Amino acid sequence: MNACIRAVVRTAIFHKIDVVGITRGYDGMINDEFIPLTTKSVANIIQRGGTILKTARSKEFLTLQGRKKAKANLEKHRVDGVIAIGGDGTFKGALEFGKICSIPFVGCPGTIDNDLVGTDFTIGYDTAINTVVEAVDKIRDTAESHDRLFFIEVMGRDAGLIALRSGIGSGAEAILISEAKTHMDTLIKHLQEGRKDKTSKIVIVSEQEGTGSVMKIAEKVKKALPFYDIRVSVLGHVQRGGNPTCMDRVNSSRMGFSAVETLMKGKKNVMIGIVNNKIAYTPFKNAVKHINELNADQVRMMKILAL
Ligand code: F6P
Repeated sequence: MNACIRAVVRTAIFHKIDVVGITRGYDGMINDEFIPLTTKSVANIIQRGGTILKTARSKEFLTLQGRKKAKANLEKHRVDGVIAIGGDGTFKGALEFGKICSIPFVGCPGTIDNDLVGTDFTIGYDTAINTVVEAVDKIRDTAESHDRLFFIEVMGRDAGLIALRSGIGSGAEAILISEAKTHMDTLIKHLQEGRKDKTSKIVIVSEQEGTGSVMKIAEKVKKALPFYDIRVSVLGHVQRGGNPTCMDRVNSSRMGFSAVETLMKGKKNVMIGIVNNKIAYTPFKNAVKHINELNADQVRMMKILAL
């Protein structure tokens, strides 16, 4: 997100537009937390995870009263346009806000889950999957040395894309995502009949079923296949931090840069994305429809490669 903020600020300043940052998202808009941003304020942040502007899940913005306060603050600061970085909550909020405020919003997709329609990559996704792959590689060393079966839970509240990609990238023996609807029986059969000479096994479990559900899955497998020495690892928020990958930095910069020029062209309520290496514009109302269909080829390939 910092790479995106940096690109927004520097592009706007290039076009002689003043920029203010709103800290803690919609909460900051409501509580008048506006700070001027200069070229210098965004120096040395492209390599940092998180966001210098901080973020919050705003409950008050869900109320009309909260949104009215936010509108009054935007008007007080004579804001002509807003660039919002976020996921479905951010864009649904912007759509609701549009009913009482005509200030245009343009969005940049900021979520590690990659679950927005209209972009091949969301900001943070590439970093998150690389973090997972690195962690799984490390866990694999124990799995291999001790002949163990590991269940590793990864993030992705509503989508299994982190699990699918990182599972393929780390050579997992199985990947459990709710979109693929793998039954316990199928998993047990797979682990029972899989190659006997494999000394380590890794099963990536998406958190969609609820954080911690990986424990129940592991327990069921242990009951059915007691000969396995099983361990569970929940990677958690380690996936949301750290230095962004080059791919994330470049994509985020491209999206921030385009967001400014899109606002300047008078467009509103669209999310900037990258599709087939080109900038794409998707209305907020379409962007928030979660991708439930996974790439069938990748799922099929994953099963073959895991044998
Ligand atoms: O939506 C992004 C995400 O990272 C999900 O993958 C995860 O379930 C959630 O946020 C965690 O949110 P929080 O930090 O509020 O627990």
